Amino acid sequence: MSVFRRAANGLRVFGRALAPAPSVDMRPDWEQAEPVWIKRALTHSQALPTGGWYALDASRAITDAPQRYEVEGRALVVWRDAHGLLAAPEACPHLGASLATARACEGKLVCPWHGLALGRDGYKGWKPFATHDDGVLAWVRLDGFTDDLTEAPILPSRPARALDAVMRVEAQCEPRDVIQNRLDPWHGVHFHPHSFGTLRVIDRAEDAITVRVAYKLPLSLAVEVDARFHCPDARTIAMTIIAGEGSGSIVETHATPISAGRTAVIEATLATSERPGFGAAIAAAPVLRPIMAWAAKRLWTEDAAYAERIYALRHQISIGQPRLAAIRRKRGSGLTATG
Ligand code: FES
Ligand SMILES: [Fe+2]
Repeated sequence: MSVFRRAANGLRVFGRALAPAPSVDMRPDWEQAEPVWIKRALTHSQALPTGGWYALDASRAITDAPQRYEVEGRALVVWRDAHGLLAAPEACPHLGASLATARACEGKLVCPWHGLALGRDGYKGWKPFATHDDGVLAWVRLDGFTDDLTEAPILPSRPARALDAVMRVEAQCEPRDVIQNRLDPWHGVHFHPHSFGTLRVIDRAEDAITVRVAYKLPLSLAVEVDARFHCPDARTIAMTIIAGEGSGSIVETHATPISAGRTAVIEATLATSERPGFGAAIAAAPVLRPIMAWAAKRLWTEDAAYAERIYALRHQISIGQPRLAAIRRKRGSGLTATG
């Protein structure tokens, strides 16, 4: 039942009451956010298999028009034909023209330089990679980076009926920095005061952490939920709402290496609800999706700064040169590290 239950940090908390759950640690956030625990959880995540799969973008972002993506330093052209998603080397196998600038004709890419038509059957050494479209995200599998190739990406459990939105930002860091950012939930209230009213840890294991968090809404309202973070693979961290409004909803944060020191953060939010009005929310998806993506991007503008900061610090240590002064804040597209 919907009620305004109490004030937390001046907020009126809306939604189902949660069962009492004591904090696992009463120390200040900065003490709870132990570097040793975060490092151990990160090490655990980095040992997980990926199956060789990389999230590229929102599934709906891929059309029959070719687009260029870069993964692990390899340039890819990505498009759709009548049978589905395709990803292949972006350079034409003849003399190297960019196939991202090709014309699509009946599902094939017609090279702009000499007219070679290339499709899912390939041509000599040029052939499409394995792809996967899970309905929300588009994936590509690259060989040569792991021996543990799987038929499909390793996905966390998703709700059966969901309103989904995807945002993509790029940051000057490595995938592990993106994962580390999410393995530190304690920064939420301090670093994103516009989004989080309260946040406390109610369970902590070696490879997962559960927080009770009040997420701010307009008009001094907030919704309080229990959210569990865990890593289904080495480049993904998922936050699942396990109690409260929208239980079963999930936010999947996928980190795809673009090239050395450059990473794409592709975040899919799959929101669900048992409330009767949720059907109307699904129907309003075209309106709600941009709002959801905007909220995710606002957090990632700041979290990219966090990830880039720890990347810069680590790099400074490894090569012994100052890099911190090179960090420049650039709202809307994360940070750019230069120098
Ligand atoms: S470079 Fe593509 S057909 Fe010649
Ligand atoms: Fe954050």
